[in-house]
Amino acid sequence: MEMKQFYITTAIDYANGAPHLGHAYEKVLTDVVARYRRMMGDRVHFLTGLDEHGQKIQQTADRAGRSAQELVDDVAPQFKNLCKRLEISNDDFIRTTEERHKAVVSRILQDLYDKGEIYQDTYEGYYSVRQEQFVTEKEQVNGEWPELFGEVIEISETNYFFKLSKYQDWLIEYLEANPEFIFPRFRQKQVVEFLKNPINDLCITRPVERLSWGIPMPFDPGYVTYVWFDALINYISAVGFGEDSFNQTWPADYHVIGKDILVPSHSVYWPIMLKASGIELPKHLLVHGFWMQSGAKMSKSTGEAVDPLDMIDQFGADAFRYFVTREMNVGQDSEFSVQLFLSRYTSDLGNDLGNLVSRLLNMGSRYCGGLIPEATLHEDPEAELKAHWESTVKEVLELYEGFQFHTGLDKTFGFIRGINRYAEIRAPWKLAKSEEPADRETLKTSLATMAEGLRLAVILLKPVMPGISDKILGLLDEKPADRWNPSTLVWDDRLQGNTLGEKVILFPRPN
Ligand code: ME8
Ligand code: MG
Repeated sequence: MEMKQFYITTAIDYANGAPHLGHAYEKVLTDVVARYRRMMGDRVHFLTGLDEHGQKIQQTADRAGRSAQELVDDVAPQFKNLCKRLEISNDDFIRTTEERHKAVVSRILQDLYDKGEIYQDTYEGYYSVRQEQFVTEKEQVNGEWPELFGEVIEISETNYFFKLSKYQDWLIEYLEANPEFIFPRFRQKQVVEFLKNPINDLCITRPVERLSWGIPMPFDPGYVTYVWFDALINYISAVGFGEDSFNQTWPADYHVIGKDILVPSHSVYWPIMLKASGIELPKHLLVHGFWMQSGAKMSKSTGEAVDPLDMIDQFGADAFRYFVTREMNVGQDSEFSVQLFLSRYTSDLGNDLGNLVSRLLNMGSRYCGGLIPEATLHEDPEAELKAHWESTVKEVLELYEGFQFHTGLDKTFGFIRGINRYAEIRAPWKLAKSEEPADRETLKTSLATMAEGLRLAVILLKPVMPGISDKILGLLDEKPADRWNPSTLVWDDRLQGNTLGEKVILFPRPN
């Protein structure tokens, strides 16, 4: 029996338009966790994909005068390209229009129907077109429907319903017994609050006359299944539900989602769908906040919202990945602005990391024939830098384990600035002017020490900046880091005698 995989997923994005910053961020966050787990030695399975059925997609296609299938076939390569350009290390990409998905959705529906968990009923009332859900007058504010609902229409319709309410007490108990089901914890409290009011059974179909773009109900071809019932099942259809290999991957360790799709879809519908189907629940939900662009200053001046692909074109995937991971505290919302981006880009990446690399390559070639010298001295400045590394690595590993990537990066860059301070103290450029043998020893030691600090720092940056990490290690004549283990993260003298690479500008100034 092989070791169970660490299974991590993103939400599947609506295939009704081009990817945006929120989509790009979620993929980066999930990728950082996936790469981190791989560095720690786990066998990881990372799934992302597209949500291709439902009313939103049908409407977008109708407006464009094309078929829904044409639309999603056009959008899918854009999302796949985004993943590629962002260096996302996903193992699979699911589209809900694929046979493997449709077959599992049918099977789950048939099974729940056979067990009596799905029944037919007639509903009369209000329906929000934008939210694709029935709404009640209770939800009105001052006699008006909230903006969020978009157009609200009155309908009377026979549909199929899933017995959600029957499981409410079970879910409340489950959350009590598993206080770490949802990260961050305050999000779980929101779910518990939501469950203090009675929940209704869930309408899971649309008549085909009203919506044909969906998966047909296996026991009644007059209906297609409704968006959430279809979409959520991607997490199991993609990993071979019903096959022997399923248990090698399921249950998921983390479903990574944004805060808007926690309640009720991922925290109420999904656990209950699984429970009713006799399938294990995912171990955790990892819920991130939103990127805000009230820095609509940017949108106004440039006339458009942030296109992640433009940013990658201009600054590279690593800079984009660094910015979003450094800036966003996973639990909170975060402001996106070009100014903030440029400030991180020029100060952290350009001045702190980029300058360290060019200084080292420069001095290495001028003073040491392009070879990394031996560190023969171990005085206070060296000891302090080494101690700084040791506290940094310990803290950063803990922070990564707890999804505190923004603080982890802050500490890592604190160490990178520590290397630069060390260089200022030793000032090898001054020592180079001296003929004294003692100064020569200090010069060699200082370059070797800077190189070793840099090597360790970029190994630690690997999950966030995989391209830059590999590139800088290459400049130090080292192979890419693919595992974090005690020996790769320890300060040593393995670089001695390595050939330094040609000078490069890693983070060119924006024009
Ligand atoms: O909700 N900042 O798809 P979606 C951060 N198909 N994250 C954001 C964001 C922002 N400004 N805007 C959106 C759907 N997101 C469904 C999911 S899962 C079985 C089905 C996140 O394209 C959002 O929170 O509207 C969600 O996790 C993901 O992008 C896809 O959103
Ligand atoms: Mg959305």
